[in-house]
Amino acid sequence: MVIKNPEVKYTQLFINNEWVNSVSGKTFETVNPVTGEVITRVQEGDKADIEKAIKAARQAFALNSKWRTIDASERGRLIFKLADLLERDIDYLASLETLDNGKPFKDALWDMNAAIASLRYYAGWADKIHGKVIPADGPFLAFTRSEPIGVCGQIIPWNFPLFMMAWKIGPALTTGNVCIVKPAEQTPLSALYLASLVKEAGFPPGVVNVVPGYGPTAGAALVEHRSVDKVAFTGSTEVGRIIQASAGRSNTKRVTLEMGGKSPLVIFEDADIDAAVLTAHAGVFINQGQCCCASSRIFVHDSIYDKFVQRSVELAKKRVVGDPTDLTTQQGPQVDEEQFNKILALIDTGRKQGANLLTGGQRCGSKGYFIQPTVFSNVTDDMTIATEEIFGPVQSLFKFSTFDEVIERCNNTNYGLAAGCFTRDIDRAIRFAQQVQAGSVWINTFLALGPQTPFGGFKESGFGRENGEDGLHEYLEVK
Ligand code: NAI
Ligand code: MG
Repeated sequence: MVIKNPEVKYTQLFINNEWVNSVSGKTFETVNPVTGEVITRVQEGDKADIEKAIKAARQAFALNSKWRTIDASERGRLIFKLADLLERDIDYLASLETLDNGKPFKDALWDMNAAIASLRYYAGWADKIHGKVIPADGPFLAFTRSEPIGVCGQIIPWNFPLFMMAWKIGPALTTGNVCIVKPAEQTPLSALYLASLVKEAGFPPGVVNVVPGYGPTAGAALVEHRSVDKVAFTGSTEVGRIIQASAGRSNTKRVTLEMGGKSPLVIFEDADIDAAVLTAHAGVFINQGQCCCASSRIFVHDSIYDKFVQRSVELAKKRVVGDPTDLTTQQGPQVDEEQFNKILALIDTGRKQGANLLTGGQRCGSKGYFIQPTVFSNVTDDMTIATEEIFGPVQSLFKFSTFDEVIERCNNTNYGLAAGCFTRDIDRAIRFAQQVQAGSVWINTFLALGPQTPFGGFKESGFGRENGEDGLHEYLEVK
């Protein structure tokens, strides 16, 4: 059940299982995107605070520390406990996420359940990670060990704040690493509450630290530091580039990057149109369009194009935008003013470059960061809205005629996070899955994400995988 004005319990930095103020004494505000008003002020971490967190994490990772010497099964038990506590407080946490991020409460609940599932999936791995005995040439016994990497900096985006934190700490902890989490400056509150549950679950001090702050200060300090062994990041390609370069300049720390996309969804002429229209709509409008693997390029076969456009517009017009604490709401505000302005500017560019604006295109109301569900038809591949990530409630409908043509157009992007197609022809579906360049390919569905299946990008969508067994290896060194 939604809690209308959830009390904010934690606004300090979480270092070594303790709540502390920032060294500088500075704080920053976090804003409710429904109203644009300040919810509260949060302690602002910077280089000196990151330094403290690294010291705590290093101690927690010392060879004879409690964390390094506990049974692997006990590590798993702690993560299970954390998942149970999250479940206990799910209504509060989802309400807090809605307050800070603006996402509809129902979506926030989905995030929480997905975070719990992710933690439990990785908890189960803790005592099932092992090396090999290798029949090496010569009179030698050769075997490998899978060891934790060490201190992991984890930089979290604002679109799925708690869910992405779970994606990052789950695999890191089950493999025995220690974490310093830097939540996004727009949405620090759920990460801080989760930190309180880390302590309650009984993790030793320093194993998980949470330092809110800005990217170019706190985030950059983490990436530049020689005593951080790995950085995992989700966010923009622009910042991902900076992180990769900075990691190289410092200590060549391990890096995994997840940086969004421009994911194509192709509707062939034999598709189940009802299902395809609904899926194409949900694939881009979900989470206010703020989804790295959104179906932001919908290619529709020319024989069904007009019908598909008409039905998509009808659906978009029916989408309920409003108060995210209302259970009938499907779309809340964008996360902040910067995103709001960026999206409206891109919509304007789409219009000016000749795309056909069929519905939406304006802000909703006069308060907060709400944008009307927007649909463009006759979008061509050279338009800015076809190449740049909009990260908002904007559906773009393209027309195609042949398989080879559409595959080429799908792949004609710097991104490669996800792709999908709707067809009843299994040969065509398999050919599509083989030829499209993307980390996830969905057939007759979209956004079918789960903790068991690897997720991550080709090309400038990033590298490394989260989820599944592949996600474990990103937190292990092979000795
Ligand atoms: P961003 O990439 O700046 O922020 C993501 C995270 O990185 C935040 O925690 C931020 O504090 C941190 N960060 C920023 N600069 C950093 C630096 N120099 N060193 C270390 N950490 C740093 O993304 P932003 O500006 O919030 O959004 C811009 C665009 O990025 C969006 O419009 C969207 O297109 C894309 N984006 C993609 C996401 C995804 O899920 N892949 C999530 C968020 C944004
Ligand atoms: Mg930024």
